[in-house]
Amino acid sequence: MTSTDIKPASGKLGILIPGMGAVATTFMAGVIAARKGTAAPIGSLSQMGHIRLGKRTEARNPTIKDFVPLADLDNIVFGGWDPYSDDAYTAAMRAGVLQANHLEGVAEELRAIKPMPAVFSHRWVSRLDDVDNVADDPDHMTAVERIVEDIERFRADNGCERLVMVWCGSTEAFEEPSDVHLTLESFEQGLKDNDPHISPSQIYAYAALTAGVPFANGAPNLTVDFPAMLELAARENVPVCGKDFKTGQTLLKTILAPGMKARMLGIDGWFSTNILGNRDGEVLDAPENFKSKEVSKLGVLETILQPEAYPELYGDLYHKVRINYYPPRGDDKEGWDNIDIFGWLGYKMQIKVDFLCKDSILAAPLVLDLALFLDLASRAGKSGIHEWLSFYFKSPQVAEGLYPEHDLFIQLKKLKNTLRHMMGEELITHLGTEYYED
Ligand SMILES: NC(=O)c1ccc[n+]([C@@H]2O[C@H](COP(=O)([O-])OP(=O)(O)OC[C@H]3O[C@@H](n4cnc5c(N)ncnc54)[C@H](O)[C@@H]3O)[C@@H](O)[C@H]2O)c1
Repeated sequence: MTSTDIKPASGKLGILIPGMGAVATTFMAGVIAARKGTAAPIGSLSQMGHIRLGKRTEARNPTIKDFVPLADLDNIVFGGWDPYSDDAYTAAMRAGVLQANHLEGVAEELRAIKPMPAVFSHRWVSRLDDVDNVADDPDHMTAVERIVEDIERFRADNGCERLVMVWCGSTEAFEEPSDVHLTLESFEQGLKDNDPHISPSQIYAYAALTAGVPFANGAPNLTVDFPAMLELAARENVPVCGKDFKTGQTLLKTILAPGMKARMLGIDGWFSTNILGNRDGEVLDAPENFKSKEVSKLGVLETILQPEAYPELYGDLYHKVRINYYPPRGDDKEGWDNIDIFGWLGYKMQIKVDFLCKDSILAAPLVLDLALFLDLASRAGKSGIHEWLSFYFKSPQVAEGLYPEHDLFIQLKKLKNTLRHMMGEELITHLGTEYYED
């Protein structure tokens, strides 16, 4: 592939978000502030990152946004759905992530972003009460048709050249894929029959893909991670990626664990617990919703450490993850890790991590990068699972039979090499022998 195969990023890009809560409104406020020049998009690789090209001696190190044709922040418009009718400003105030004085500067733009009526069911998210913005769709297929209409109306009203959808909605109750998820035919029949195994996030995703809109999943729900949806993505030639934004404790885990393994240090146990008091924490307080998150968080260490290949180092590792809903903390999560490690001659050591983080501050730049990179991929004619975006996810979606790559640094190399490949640049292997040849 060469850069000439990528269509230009001209015109407006609409970013459509089911779930206009803490993450979504923090993301919108930050992008608006960045384009006004009142804040820098810190944490966004697409905006702040550089990429080395060619040999180290060539000193070519452009920013990523100068290297690949990404949509400009000035050309982004926002839309979304939520079961609460609060506009983005009210929702941001309620979420309590950004201070009122920060929100004032972007209030007018945020107030203009009003959520469209949601596809919502308490069967999938039990803890949200007094919802006032839920559409009364008689069945799943009607809900799909309504969301497609919303998408097309948004596209026309805002004069968008292209759209992407990023799920920032609450984590849905855990469920394994069932028969209805196996083929596109069975899924479409399930939509007509109102199959109880089809969740709201799957309805948004189906609507997006049929409308040719790329889809990223920021929560651990299945959403686009099953065969029927991949069949649809292939048919419509649309890129997808997921699942579950990699922020906070899992981000640190995928930074620390590869380091321990690189030095062949053993690990007996890794206990992770955290307190958080935002609406996400409240939803995750329900066991069926926590189960989705737990599965997503637990997979990370096993894949990085490969206990089957290193039984004497990681064969007996005890990994425990807890999330405790504690309202006084709001979005200011505190995550503790106790890591019991051992070294030379089996001598034991401990590492303690206490991360006082802000969940949505870490997640917001990921929404931006995912939207911009999925749009790039779409303009490059790519479809199906976009594993090169695993960098952003706790539980990266991969092809059947593949294990996901969780090591943050391998994920970063993969992402940058994909960008080099898209632009017809040489891949960087870090072999480095060329500097020592005559
Ligand atoms: N903040 C992080 O660091 C982080 C990291 C990884 C994953 N996530 C996931 O991202 C999602 C958003 O997190 P948040 O902190 O913004 O939560 P939040 O509770 O503040 O926002 C979620 C929003 O989704 C809405 N919603 C629920 N069901 C919906 C539906 N069917 N359609 C449309 N909207 C719906 C809720 O009303 C709420 O406004 C959650 O699933 C969370 O688990 C967040």
